[in-house]
Amino acid sequence: MQSKEVLRFGMVGGGLGAYIGDVHRKGATFDDQAELVAGCFSRDYEKTLSTGKAWGVDPDRLYRTADEMAEKEGAREDGIDFVIIATPNYAHYSAAKAFLQNGIHVVCDKPLTFTVEEAEELRDLAEKNGLLFCVTYAYSQCAAVKQAQMMVKNGDLGEIIMVSAEYPQGWLAPEDVGNPWRTDPKMTGISNCVGDIGTHVENTVSYITGLEIEEVCARLDNFGVNRTLDTNAMIMVKYKNGAVGNYWCSQVAIGYDNALTVRVFGTKGSLEWRQEEPDYLKVTMLGGPQQIWSRGNDYFYPEAKVMSRIGAGHPEGYYESFANLYLKFTSALLKLKRGETLTEEDLDFPDVKAGLNGVKFIHRCVESSQKGSVWVKFN
Ligand SMILES: NC(=O)c1ccc[n+]([C@@H]2O[C@H](COP(=O)([O-])OP(=O)(O)OC[C@H]3O[C@@H](n4cnc5c(N)ncnc54)[C@H](O)[C@@H]3O)[C@@H](O)[C@H]2O)c1
Repeated sequence: MQSKEVLRFGMVGGGLGAYIGDVHRKGATFDDQAELVAGCFSRDYEKTLSTGKAWGVDPDRLYRTADEMAEKEGAREDGIDFVIIATPNYAHYSAAKAFLQNGIHVVCDKPLTFTVEEAEELRDLAEKNGLLFCVTYAYSQCAAVKQAQMMVKNGDLGEIIMVSAEYPQGWLAPEDVGNPWRTDPKMTGISNCVGDIGTHVENTVSYITGLEIEEVCARLDNFGVNRTLDTNAMIMVKYKNGAVGNYWCSQVAIGYDNALTVRVFGTKGSLEWRQEEPDYLKVTMLGGPQQIWSRGNDYFYPEAKVMSRIGAGHPEGYYESFANLYLKFTSALLKLKRGETLTEEDLDFPDVKAGLNGVKFIHRCVESSQKGSVWVKFN
């Protein structure tokens, strides 16, 4: 019997104790389509060694820098097929560029880069070298979010006229949190709150509705404990189809954890998805009662139904959304390696263009706010 082909991957960042690295590693290996074989898990080589030991990585494939890893893995016959970049934002661009230049497919966390030009450069390089590039806006990979997207796509809600979306957190309200890297412009870029969670709002709305932003008008504030960058943002959006939106993101909203919520209103109905109860979708059709739709049931569109891993009512969540994202990415990569042509369906994961849009969104919001909350063109 022929054994199943398994992809090899490495990680930059995400060493023991890191927040999202472990979620990536578990998501990437959830469906046994990939195994971890290399890493530069930290800027501190000792930490890379201890992480590699804990995760059973061959010490010969533990590297001091991302550049060294890209070069050496790119030269190996059994080198990694793809890399996961889960460092703080400042290191995304240089690491992603190094792997793309060495012919290695990339999965990178958000926000993709500091500048729009850097994101464009990565997009062009990935295209030129024929490499897949996924940006881990993983909320889009919840089954109920896919259902919401399919309902909009199939016209169930009529024409989309309004969006209201928010991502409130309260973790930066207390003084004793100190100044984590997300608040340091050298590590995080020109925005903290919009960059860290506003981009999730932008991406989740974009994934569900397919609406393209025409202009934004934003007000960024640094409320509460005095920090260098924004901790709250109110953003108005005009879309190309004439629809309008309002987004709010905050890290000083006391009482909120990760309350990403997206509401989409059409001429025939509306829906609401809440990240903290990700299995459910509130659906209301014009003149009808409010309904709660539950992931895993037959009334979900087939494209959304296949994204359920266990029966309805057994909670799925954050880990499964990363696993769904990696299942799509690794399935596409395996197909590519077999020389098969990829379809739109194969590429149904947030890509480098989604990453670029996220970076543009940050820059346009900051520009609008700095100019006194004026309307700023998105493109
Ligand atoms: N997609 C999501 O939902 C999501 C959620 C959380 C964080 N993130 C993103 O993931 C990234 C990491 O965030 P985090 O909260 O895990 O940060 P973290 O500080 O917990 O972990 C960062 C890790 O990167 C390592 N590192 C730093 N610089 C490095 C370098 N130059 N080379 C190698 N390793 C390096 C650190 O040692 C640490 O292990 C950020 O870009 C953040 O925006 C995304």
